[in-house]
Amino acid sequence: MTLHNTGLPADQVLDELRTMRSGDLPTHGGRTLAYVYDSGLAGLDELAMSAYALASATNGLDPTAFPSLLRMENEIVATAAALLGGGPSTAGSVTSGGTESCMLAVHAARAARPDVERPTIVLASTAHAAFHKAAHYFGVEAVTVPVLPESFVADPAAMAAAIDERTVLVVVSAPSYAHGVVDPVPEVAAAAAARGVRCHVDACIGGWVLPYLRALGAPVPDFDLSVPGVTSLSVDLHKYAYCPKGTSVLLHADAELRRSQFFASARWPGYTMLNSTMQSTRSGGPLAAAWAVLNHIGDQGYRELASRTLAAVRALRSGIDAIDGLRVQGDPQATLLSVVATTGDLDVFTVADEMTERGWYLQPQFGFEGSPPNLHLTVTAANHGAEAALLSDLASAVAAARRSGPVTLAPELTSAIATLDPSGLTSEQFAGLLAMAGLEGTGTPKRMAEINAMLAAAPPTLRERLLVEFLGVLYTPVPPPPAGESDSA
Ligand SMILES: Cc1ncc(COP(=O)(O)O)c(C=O)c1O
Repeated sequence: MTLHNTGLPADQVLDELRTMRSGDLPTHGGRTLAYVYDSGLAGLDELAMSAYALASATNGLDPTAFPSLLRMENEIVATAAALLGGGPSTAGSVTSGGTESCMLAVHAARAARPDVERPTIVLASTAHAAFHKAAHYFGVEAVTVPVLPESFVADPAAMAAAIDERTVLVVVSAPSYAHGVVDPVPEVAAAAAARGVRCHVDACIGGWVLPYLRALGAPVPDFDLSVPGVTSLSVDLHKYAYCPKGTSVLLHADAELRRSQFFASARWPGYTMLNSTMQSTRSGGPLAAAWAVLNHIGDQGYRELASRTLAAVRALRSGIDAIDGLRVQGDPQATLLSVVATTGDLDVFTVADEMTERGWYLQPQFGFEGSPPNLHLTVTAANHGAEAALLSDLASAVAAARRSGPVTLAPELTSAIATLDPSGLTSEQFAGLLAMAGLEGTGTPKRMAEINAMLAAAPPTLRERLLVEFLGVLYTPVPPPPAGESDSA
């Protein structure tokens, strides 16, 4: 694509965008059970977009220049703190998303301990990959501790034993993304506090819904800032607060703990560089949209949304357990379900493909330690009322997947993949492997079961390399067709 010489009319540009968007997964209606969060509330998108437009050109780079942004951020942080057990000294920041909040928690913890030469973070093995990204970016070593079998919650004794003089942060989840279970936060936080180490609760996905589930009578273990020893907590507004993408909150138990998160530089001749988060120029759009959505939905509104979500989760969980061949793993206390096959003749990745054919997106998760390959469901308020439709399609998807049988790879292919050393492969060999996995094109094929089976056979290091190569293929602009060819098409 090159710029049009004179530009296109606004209507034409928007039409083209609508056409492109029609090929995406639906963001409303509850049929996409990962990536998106749908309140089902009429008018919420319009409100969010009006608020976004009002502030999109402002710049959080200098909050003194845009006091509206400063006020909205302080109000959002105070609201999150009040919901999540904060006290008068709780301090925080609004970030661009969960990954940024988690990374900043790691950065703040590491920067506060310049005395530790080779810092580590101690993670339950189910902690979100954002912490591995933080470790990778910030030169910190991630020490992962296996979770308890079957329940998939952090093992407090093993976590405590993994803390040593190099540990700058201990991480637990409320809940974990993969299994939707809440780690034993009080025990782990107490162990961290006993060693004088910070403890972060990753409540990115659960933070805005767990307090309401508890108020509705659901059994929710203690997980928030009121737990002694918890020093920071992340909660995403673009998840169960149903705000547009681009907002999360990182809370610290007090402002002293937050200081090392900030960055100032007086070592250049331009404006004063003073940042509370990883971004420097920050659009006020997402912040204003979140502020508007929080104010509009309100406490009672979130309680009602949580009530609908809880009804959907309960109906889906018992309905899935009643389908012959499927089972929900662990004892999820939040709004996420992880579904495994109970019989060898059923391949969950084929079930996912069959659900795609029926207009539902369930997210494949690879086997990891004691967790077999499974399907992830992020359940939101919009799923309530359509539980029976989902379950009936799921039962028919299971029957179809049984008929086609599990994906089997040639044994020589499986053993070749399992023994390949990614460090010794050339880019041509990677291109060959991607082609074998069906990942050489510019898009992903509709049926993914074979590809997932191949990726599942690859050890994590090889899988990571293959996926990075794949990303390179995806983010390569398609060259325009030679002159004349598009006219004749
Ligand atoms: C527990 C948890 N932490 C962190 C993240 C990362 O959030 P984001 O995708 O907004 O960067 C997620 C995303 O699902 C999550 O579930």
